[in-house]
Amino acid sequence: MSELLIRGRVLTFVKEPEGIDDTASYRFFEDGAVLVRNGKVAGVGAHAEVAKQAGDGVKVADHRPHLVLPGLIDTHLHFPQTQAIASYGAQLLEWLNTYIFVEEQKFKAPEHAAFIAGRFMDELLANGTTTAVAYCSVHPESVDAFFNAAEARNMRMVGGKVMMDRNAPEALTDMPEKGYEETKRLIAKWHGRGRAHYAISPRFAITSTPGQMEMSRALVAEHPDCYVQTHLSENKDEIAFATSLYPQAKDYTDIYARYDLLGRKTLLGHCIHLSDREISVLAETGAVGVFCPTSNLFLGSGLFDRDRFDRLGARYSVATDVGAGTSFSMLETMDEAYKVLHLQGQRLSPLNSFYMMTLGNARALDLEHCIGSLHVGADADIVVLDSRAKPAMELRMQVASSLTEELFILQTMGDDRSVAEVYVAGKPMKCGPRGASAPAPSARMFETA
Ligand code: GUN
Ligand code: ZN
Repeated sequence: MSELLIRGRVLTFVKEPEGIDDTASYRFFEDGAVLVRNGKVAGVGAHAEVAKQAGDGVKVADHRPHLVLPGLIDTHLHFPQTQAIASYGAQLLEWLNTYIFVEEQKFKAPEHAAFIAGRFMDELLANGTTTAVAYCSVHPESVDAFFNAAEARNMRMVGGKVMMDRNAPEALTDMPEKGYEETKRLIAKWHGRGRAHYAISPRFAITSTPGQMEMSRALVAEHPDCYVQTHLSENKDEIAFATSLYPQAKDYTDIYARYDLLGRKTLLGHCIHLSDREISVLAETGAVGVFCPTSNLFLGSGLFDRDRFDRLGARYSVATDVGAGTSFSMLETMDEAYKVLHLQGQRLSPLNSFYMMTLGNARALDLEHCIGSLHVGADADIVVLDSRAKPAMELRMQVASSLTEELFILQTMGDDRSVAEVYVAGKPMKCGPRGASAPAPSARMFETA
């Protein structure tokens, strides 16, 4: 029996914060500890109490004065776009055609897919993210690479092969039957193996014919315990194109509703320009709108209206959306979320930000029994955050006087440098700020024109 006692300032949420200072929404132990036994949380609370529960041979990792939280969760990003972050100048459809549909073709090669998958997982871990929901490319090889890299690190990951059968280069399309068969095979191989979960992934209505949507409907009906991920209402040109392809649909949301793709396990990227009717359909079906602030600003897509989701009772989560998203850091993502909401006169409290990155996103995935909070029996996926990681943060922290202020400083000024350690099922994983497998910097120079 292996035991580890992780000591630090332990913070974990128990419910959604209702105000800026909702102390009932979390548990905080200034001198706290988490006892890990066989990869699970065996105790959490004040250090003096938890230490008593530990056996004689317990190892101790003393992270004081850093904060100890559940590992962060990212509910939408694209692993084949890891090297396409920072592609200049275009809005969604042009960006997809110019950069992304070129980049994703590289993932037919298993060596390339394996190389990027390893770097992708290390980048998540370097940023304190222990679970993510990712799109792979159309190639089954990319899904194998993705789940192999996750399995090698024992990470709880959700992912799936993108399905596309039109409006994309031929090298990236799969006919409806082929997409169906390949998805079935990948579900059989990966879903429920170790910590892997499969997401059925028709990319969006523009790249799927009605025939492929029918196949998606069949996959969802045959595999109700798999996730479903797609994109909805990100960009005005996208909406016009999608609705023109499905003239019988009432609106963009209705396209997915007609194929029975909306349910509690459905994650819908972006959801920016929805009508009240559409948000009400999400509320009725339990589908989750995914707020991707850095992406929405980078592509000039628009502003996610969180308050309307709250008013209409629809579920939402938060995500990086790498590679339209510009950072793997959930801290930087919440910094941009704060600004996107501010522009609309909406507030995002620091408690709410940290709730969303942890328990909120776990609830969006219906995985709160095992991730997103530190409770006995939970997976020991844990992040250790240093609020003084940079000189400017240390200086700012000198005048901070409350936990909420500290959290806001972390969110506003923090990034991967604030992640002092990350544990996956109780195992420390952070091997320096550049990630475990980062090679030495290349000596190659750019040619001058
Ligand atoms: N819509 C369809 N595919 C994509 C994608 O890869 N990224 C973003 N941001 N939107 C999409
Ligand atoms: Zn996306």
